[in-house]
Amino acid sequence: MRNHPYPPPHKGFPHPQRGVLRWACALFVLSMAMASACTPPVTPDPPKPVDLGLVITLTDADNKILDSLTPLGEPPPSPSNRYADDPKAAHFGQFLFFDKRLSAESKFSCASCHDPQKGWGDGLPTANTIAKGDRNAPTVWNTAYNRWFFWDGRADTLWAQATQPFENPIEMGATRVGLLHTFTKEADLKKAYEALFGPLPDTSDPQRFPPQARPVSDDPNHPHQKAWAAMSPTDQEAANRFYTNIAKAIEAFERKIISKTSPFDTFVAGVRHKDPVRTKAFSPAAQRGLKLFIGKAQCTFCHFGKNLSNSEFHNIGLNLPAGKSPDIGRFDAIDKVLKDPFNAIGTFSDDAAPEKYTKLKFLASNTEIMGAFKTPTLREIANTAPYMHDGRFATLEDVLDFYNELPDKPPVGHREESLRPLQLDKDQKADLIAFLRSLSSPPLPTSLTQPPAQPLP
Ligand code: HEC
Ligand code: HEC
Repeated sequence: MRNHPYPPPHKGFPHPQRGVLRWACALFVLSMAMASACTPPVTPDPPKPVDLGLVITLTDADNKILDSLTPLGEPPPSPSNRYADDPKAAHFGQFLFFDKRLSAESKFSCASCHDPQKGWGDGLPTANTIAKGDRNAPTVWNTAYNRWFFWDGRADTLWAQATQPFENPIEMGATRVGLLHTFTKEADLKKAYEALFGPLPDTSDPQRFPPQARPVSDDPNHPHQKAWAAMSPTDQEAANRFYTNIAKAIEAFERKIISKTSPFDTFVAGVRHKDPVRTKAFSPAAQRGLKLFIGKAQCTFCHFGKNLSNSEFHNIGLNLPAGKSPDIGRFDAIDKVLKDPFNAIGTFSDDAAPEKYTKLKFLASNTEIMGAFKTPTLREIANTAPYMHDGRFATLEDVLDFYNELPDKPPVGHREESLRPLQLDKDQKADLIAFLRSLSSPPLPTSLTQPPAQPLP
């Protein structure tokens, strides 16, 4: 390659000869203008509008809404977790996410119910490992953007969420003190844990660290609770520190499970850049569905923001299937998150300024949130069936039939006033579904969808 010693001459540089030329031109034009018989100077044609292949009109208001939906940026910081963006912690967290040793009898891992091949869910209406639960396993896609966790929002951070399934007797069935023994015993886990978080406590004295112990707040006679209550506050604190550290590593991994380059995002970017290659890849049906989504169907009333969720709780008025007991959802969760020792204003939070953390401050229960559940993200929705907190709908068609007709009544609370039967016709429903199907991104690299060979890179 040749190196130019001087910067290349700038195009608009006032070159002396060009100056002369310009004057000559101006004089010429002037004299021509004075001589009325001459042809007017040629003005260049205005640029032809690019054919973007749009079958819908996007008004200014529509464009404003679109700007609020895409592009999805980086996840917000997680100040309560100092390891949230630590690549080694994320690698370890990924290892743990797939590791069955972290459950009773080494049978299940997080991935048993959040399988990357099943849209990071389990494909079942309600989760079923040790025993069948009442709620659907939501996707882990884009959880880093959530404000609350679980269908009822009973956790306020992603790491606090991760502390619950390990000890849930019907999910993984472990105990935090049992896990501490597992990490002490399994050389690979011990080595990786200590490299990241420092030495594990010495758990060799069974008087101090019983084989299994965890707090069981609603059952003082539970053997795990009795064993936990017998531990000293210092040892409890050591177990909690360990437990929250592994949860924080898992959050660091989950923060990488991001879907943000769907055909929908590409389409809107194409409209913005007047790029027909990008806009024409988006089918007319999906375009019409998009227009319905942000318009007549009013989905963006709740599924708004860049992750297509307002992060709030609504009772959309699902009825009570025969033989089921009512689920009061958010109503039950407020007390739980306020009392959670692992919430973001607790001792195990790394937030340097917890007083700025106002999310919990103004939380109060009221009957309006009876039977309300979190608005889920709609990103990757085509890959995360079945749908709703109890997995009652097998397909997106079923979901739309529900919004279209709003049959029945909710068993608790009342349906959000803003919801009205949509009364879309068959074609409109098909369009809206084509749009919902456009919200999935290209698959993640296998380096994120499989357990790494070793707990540390
Ligand atoms: C038995 C299956 C099962 C296992 C095992 C399991 N989960 Fe879940 N997960 C669920 C269910 C069911 C919910 C929703 C429960 C609820 O809302 O009450 C859930 C909720 C979540 C959420 C909240 C998502 C959101 O949008 O709020 C995350 C994140 C998550 N699990 C991660 C994990 C991690 C990490 C592990 C391992 C430590 C794990 N899960 C183990 C079934 C499971
Ligand atoms: C009033 C707020 C609100 C409006 C409006 C709304 N949704 Fe929802 N949506 C929710 C809530 C809340 C849930 C979860 C409800 C539950 O499980 O109890 C949900 C669930 C869903 C689900 C299932 C997601 C999953 O992962 O299980 C889909 C799909 C969905 N909505 C699509 C739409 C579409 C399409 C529209 C417009 C026609 C729409 N929603 C309008 C609040 C709303």
